[in-house]
Amino acid sequence: MSNRPALPPEIARRRTFAIISHPDAGKTTLTEKFLLFGGAIQMAGQVRAKGEARRTRSDFMKLEQDRGISVSASAMSFEYRDFRYNLVDTPGHSDFSEDTYRTLTAVDAAIMVIDGAKGVESQTRKLFEVCRLRDLPILTFCNKMDRESRDTFEIIDEIQENLAIDVAPASWPIGMGREFLGCYDMLHDRLELMDRADRNKVAESIKISGLDDPKLAEHVPADMLEKLREEVEMARELLPAFDRQSFLEGHLTPIWFGSAINSFGVKELMDGIGEFGPEPEVFKTAERDVAPEEKKVSGFVFKVQANMDPKHRDRVAFVRLVSGHFTRGQKLFHVRSKKPMAVSNPVLFLAADRELAEEAWGGDIIGIPNHGQLRIGDALTEGESLRFTGIPSFAPELLQSVRATDPMKGKHLEKALMQFAEEGAAKVFKPAIGSGFIVGVVGALQFDVLASRIELEYGIPVRFETSQFTSARWVQGDKAAVEKLLNANKQHISYDHDGDVVFLTRLQWDIDRVERDYEGVTLSATKEMM
Ligand code: G4P
Repeated sequence: MSNRPALPPEIARRRTFAIISHPDAGKTTLTEKFLLFGGAIQMAGQVRAKGEARRTRSDFMKLEQDRGISVSASAMSFEYRDFRYNLVDTPGHSDFSEDTYRTLTAVDAAIMVIDGAKGVESQTRKLFEVCRLRDLPILTFCNKMDRESRDTFEIIDEIQENLAIDVAPASWPIGMGREFLGCYDMLHDRLELMDRADRNKVAESIKISGLDDPKLAEHVPADMLEKLREEVEMARELLPAFDRQSFLEGHLTPIWFGSAINSFGVKELMDGIGEFGPEPEVFKTAERDVAPEEKKVSGFVFKVQANMDPKHRDRVAFVRLVSGHFTRGQKLFHVRSKKPMAVSNPVLFLAADRELAEEAWGGDIIGIPNHGQLRIGDALTEGESLRFTGIPSFAPELLQSVRATDPMKGKHLEKALMQFAEEGAAKVFKPAIGSGFIVGVVGALQFDVLASRIELEYGIPVRFETSQFTSARWVQGDKAAVEKLLNANKQHISYDHDGDVVFLTRLQWDIDRVERDYEGVTLSATKEMM
């Protein structure tokens, strides 16, 4: 990374990241404060209407409101100081891990939010593991320090042991719970004091010269000051110091302590991403590595979302720009169809409002409204045939058959299902024998979401029913071998929305049998989306 040439300033100032956390740790609140400081919203509380609906403004579905979960990932851009931040929201619920996984392929860093009283929770751990697969740099925010929290060393130890990553304190909390005063900024030798009276105010920041500075005593009571000095001394002895290279390689995470609801620690965290990076990264394709500073535009679709705006029946493809300088109206090459595509109305996601993007740079996330041409994994370039790798499609873990309660609507149902399949919201398999469809998902809640969306967006009431199958595997291999398998196992064969052959079964034994009996055929639980 350090050997790379300097990036054009516009690209070097991009910071594209996601927030990972266990539900309730404070992701929504932190997002809200980011947007508040980034000037994307005027008042806190706009992102999440207090009490009645605990959601970010980017959520739009009734079902999400009812369940209080965020089903769909979305992107938000904002400016703060010298940087342009692109925050890609990840759905927090474990049922949507596939979507989350793909979202994490489009960012350069992640912020891990943990609750100071609860430490590392199950969902945090899962998401962390996904980040680790890509060695994503991780910044940690220990939230809710205004409440009774665990001992600071204990929290840090838990992260180190549970996640096997070095933790370097970027700040050190002074008191906790009702006594929480603020933090000592260990990287900049500053005192940050929390204002309890105004939850939206940025903390008062006092420059000091070391922990022996007499100024400290004016702000921190003697007993707390003594404890702070002791703890910081111990921390410096026992814990690793912040090392940028190690952070960028994903081996070390800096930790800030704060209280999102009180806007405390948020600014320091934003400055941290700004100051330490990472800058937009190099991405891999099947052909070669693509660097952000390359003159030509390239990018890939990591998410497709339909009907974001109920008034416009469009789909938006979320594209991570990997390189170049894109301008509105530019003709790009759609690699999968080998056709040019004029991108005349790209959108940037400034909090809730969609705004036309006049230009965008490597690192940015743009939305491209389209009628279904753009699918997850698709590459856009200025003519080169590139295929970005590492955007997987997972075999669903749950299968159900679906039918319209009104049989006359069968044809429309097919259209709706295909759309959701292309969006990546579910896998849809058309069995080779018989009629109807089998829908596959990763988490059970997705069936409810689908049923609700099919009814809401297409006016088709549907029923999901138990299917005779429980596993799906993509069939790969040489043509003759696959043909032989198809002919002898018709009752197990289906086709996904791309027309690829999928083997359905309820027995692991069947999968083993095929792999044993059909040389040259493999059954795969993932399929690269390219
Ligand atoms: P999530 O998106 O990660 O699920 O968490 P969210 O921000 O919705 O926060 C979960 C709860 O924690 C909310 O309380 C929120 O107000 C509270 N919270 C967030 N940050 C802090 C903090 O720094 N200190 C304290 N004490 N609480 C915090 P809630 O009661 O569930 O909702 P609400 O009624 O407050 O909106």
